[in-house]
Amino acid sequence: MGGAAGPQLAAAVSNAGGLGTLPLWWHGTDIVRQQVRETRQLTTRPFAVNLNMEYPQAERLEVCLDEGVPVISFFWQDPSSLVSRAKEAGAIVMHTVGNAADARRAVDCGVDIVVAQGWEAGGHVRGTVASMPLIPSVVDVVGNVPVIAAGGIADGRGMAAALALGASGVWIGTRFLASKEVAIHPEYQERLLAASENDTVHLENLFDGGWPDAPHRVLRNSTVTNWEKAGRPPPGQRPGEGDVIAHAASEGDIVHYLSYTPEPDAVGDIEALALWAGQGVAMVRKVQPVADIIREINAEAEAIFQRLAK
Ligand SMILES: Cc1cc2nc3c(=O)[nH]c(=O)nc-3n(C[C@H](O)[C@H](O)[C@H](O)COP(=O)(O)O)c2cc1C
Repeated sequence: MGGAAGPQLAAAVSNAGGLGTLPLWWHGTDIVRQQVRETRQLTTRPFAVNLNMEYPQAERLEVCLDEGVPVISFFWQDPSSLVSRAKEAGAIVMHTVGNAADARRAVDCGVDIVVAQGWEAGGHVRGTVASMPLIPSVVDVVGNVPVIAAGGIADGRGMAAALALGASGVWIGTRFLASKEVAIHPEYQERLLAASENDTVHLENLFDGGWPDAPHRVLRNSTVTNWEKAGRPPPGQRPGEGDVIAHAASEGDIVHYLSYTPEPDAVGDIEALALWAGQGVAMVRKVQPVADIIREINAEAEAIFQRLAK
């Protein structure tokens, strides 16, 4: 989760038996190396680095491979130009898709694991198909390649459902925004805890920032409602466009509509920033340590399978 997941969260997930993922796709190579090393200090278990193929990633990939990152996760555009390089260096390669045709293409270019991201997901959303039909559609075209389900999975019920649909595992975002190890602003976290399944909205390009055609899902907030009231004008004509509405050490001035994840030290109109969240936010009700979240989800899923087996 770009802007929300750092070494602490990724390492906590890996230490609890998951595969923690560090999103490093916009950082300079020095920071990429530093964050990988920091994560290594916090866990001896495998973790992944996530690279967004909308942007050139060859240099960041080289740093990751040089540092021995065991799993590379690509998403958005076609990863074929970098898959063989990552595999040659011994990494396991994952790619996130939003439909079956892209899943097949990923497998044909050598991807080891396909992540099927449903439309319910928080943050940037690749496709327009919900997880329930997407997972079996992807499973059906990838042969023996494992499929990991993402989007709308926030508890053991979602995990059990994804496994029943043929997934080999689940990829969870929104639920970890309510973890002790995540680095987001407390007001953002409070709004997540209070939100229902009705409170997110899928937008084509409202919270932009130099990444074209990047649909996303966020909590409905004043930025969304004011833009809707104004008749959904295009970029360049939106209410308050270009106004500085917050400030953070890492980012400096934050202008309205910037694709920025509210960090703990941000000050200003936090409510109006991009509050990324998936529809599964309805099941996010308390802040817990990552290890407890993972233990709870596994136990719930196991209990469901035991009940169904009777
Ligand atoms: C705050 C936030 C940031 C995200 N950033 C990224 C990212 O940088 N790279 C990526 O592949 N997916 C990103 N995603 C999408 C997640 O990887 C995942 O597909 C999604 O969270 C799964 O759905 P869920 O939120 O319902 O659990 C992000 C999601 C959130 C909530």
